[in-house]
Amino acid sequence: MNKYKMQLTAEQQAILDGKEGEVKAKVMETLVMFGDIFGAEKLVPVTHKQGHLVTSFGIGLLKPLFSTMDKLIAGGVKAEGGFSVDPRPLDYDNVKCNFLEKLVFNKILYSQQEMYEKQLRKVGLTGSSKFTCACYLDEVGNQPKEGDVLSWAESSAVVYANSVLGARCNRNSGMLDLFGSIVGYVPYFGLLTDEGRKATWKVYVKTTKKPEAQILGSAIGMKVMEDVPYVYGLDKFLGNELTDDAKAYLKDFGAATASNGAVGLYHIDALTPEAKRLGEKLLADNCKEYVIDDAELERIYKSYPVMWKNKEKEGNLCFIGCPHLTYSQLCDWTDKIVASLKAAGRKKVAVRTVLTSAPDVVAKFKQTKKYAELVATGATLTSICPLMYTNNPLTKMHRIMTNSNKLRTYSAARYYKDEEILKKITGVKEGK
Ligand code: F3S
Repeated sequence: MNKYKMQLTAEQQAILDGKEGEVKAKVMETLVMFGDIFGAEKLVPVTHKQGHLVTSFGIGLLKPLFSTMDKLIAGGVKAEGGFSVDPRPLDYDNVKCNFLEKLVFNKILYSQQEMYEKQLRKVGLTGSSKFTCACYLDEVGNQPKEGDVLSWAESSAVVYANSVLGARCNRNSGMLDLFGSIVGYVPYFGLLTDEGRKATWKVYVKTTKKPEAQILGSAIGMKVMEDVPYVYGLDKFLGNELTDDAKAYLKDFGAATASNGAVGLYHIDALTPEAKRLGEKLLADNCKEYVIDDAELERIYKSYPVMWKNKEKEGNLCFIGCPHLTYSQLCDWTDKIVASLKAAGRKKVAVRTVLTSAPDVVAKFKQTKKYAELVATGATLTSICPLMYTNNPLTKMHRIMTNSNKLRTYSAARYYKDEEILKKITGVKEGK
């Protein structure tokens, strides 16, 4: 008798019984147990075959992860549709580290990076350029369609896929993303169901100008936590089509909702695909309400703690691009930095500045003359995850500035609005 509550098809049961080997049976069992915990009645096929993994870093302490990978490889199983993976943690050419930092990174923190990347390739990593959290960008090409079922875990990618692309994915944990891609099934619950995609919050944006994406996302995330918000009033600023600008805005907004809260799906009235198709049919009964005006956004912004040891000093390192910048954002930041430096009468950035974007986007950008313009400012361009870089005991040596609410939340970095951070890095004096 089946000891699990979930109903399995004959094919799924056969995998669980070991018809495709002992290792795949274990992978299936893990997914079934996971589904049982969340009350899933069944497993459904993953229709977008390309996976995305959140665990991209070879942290020496993650021994169980490496031994699970070894078992998968020995058992001859892999994600047949391939997968992309979150960014690498290090790039010494473009994000300089001192001797002590390198020692900590190479010998302690990411001592297993090379070995782990070999393991990733063996279980299905699509290519060495596929290290990015923004795997859904055109240049990277891991793009689900509306209605597709996915097996992903990276919170910023999951919320984007659900909300902007209209795909279906739960906020899985690391390794479950890979397991779902290996067996090709995921448990059916939560954001995979029509009911689970209904909004339980009505959010009204009543600001006088376009709100900073990362502060608006932060405000909504902190208020609704893991619930689904339906947002009114944002189409006034973003329009009714998912243009490059709107998508870039929603990428940053969504990452903030997912990290400052635990949002896996949001609907933007008259803009995102399900909201356009179903409108207020997406609202659950008795929705709670949240109104966001200029004062509320400012209250949220002022509430962010400054974690620097010396709060009075200026920042000395800046990261822009968490989640990874789109191609247009990269061009836009380059133009803004160049123009602001010119206005300030400077040639080089006043603060060490690092822009981050997907390797495939960086490759495209390097073909343009804007790349030379960016390099001439002294800023550097990389594809690492800034959070992985800050994830070490020496990070407090730096006073890191960022316009990413995710990076602010998980590190000691200080958040600044786009306009402020531009002034800081280009040496524009206060009040100008
Ligand atoms: Fe991406 Fe790393 Fe930020 S995975 S969202 S750059 S924390």
